[in-house]
Amino acid sequence: MTASDDRRVRDHPVLGQLPDVPEVAFSFDGRPVFGRAGEPIIAALFAAGVRVLRTTEGGEPRGGYCLVGRCGDCRVTVDGRPDVLACQTPVRAGSRVDTQHGLGTWPADDADRPA
Ligand code: FES
Repeated sequence: MTASDDRRVRDHPVLGQLPDVPEVAFSFDGRPVFGRAGEPIIAALFAAGVRVLRTTEGGEPRGGYCLVGRCGDCRVTVDGRPDVLACQTPVRAGSRVDTQHGLGTWPADDADRPA
């Protein structure tokens, strides 16, 4: 995915031409994605055409619901840590974001891993 492939509104019918914001590169399931610095991960992924962010334990796709940090439907794995809310977490350059499957898997050596 390149920056020019995104689905962002750049010329709004009411607000007019929207300002350019510097973009940063990160990855989603190993593919390069670009996001506006500081925007939520989910916004960058939606702009890149991604709709499924996680699957339930039964394999059902989920892609975000409330977008305000309440439902947990947008949980992704970021840099190996599961349960990161994509709607509440800003894009960071170089982050590795992955689809979370089920409850996700914590790295064995992560000090913050739940017991
Ligand atoms: S979409 Fe509901 S918590 Fe992120």
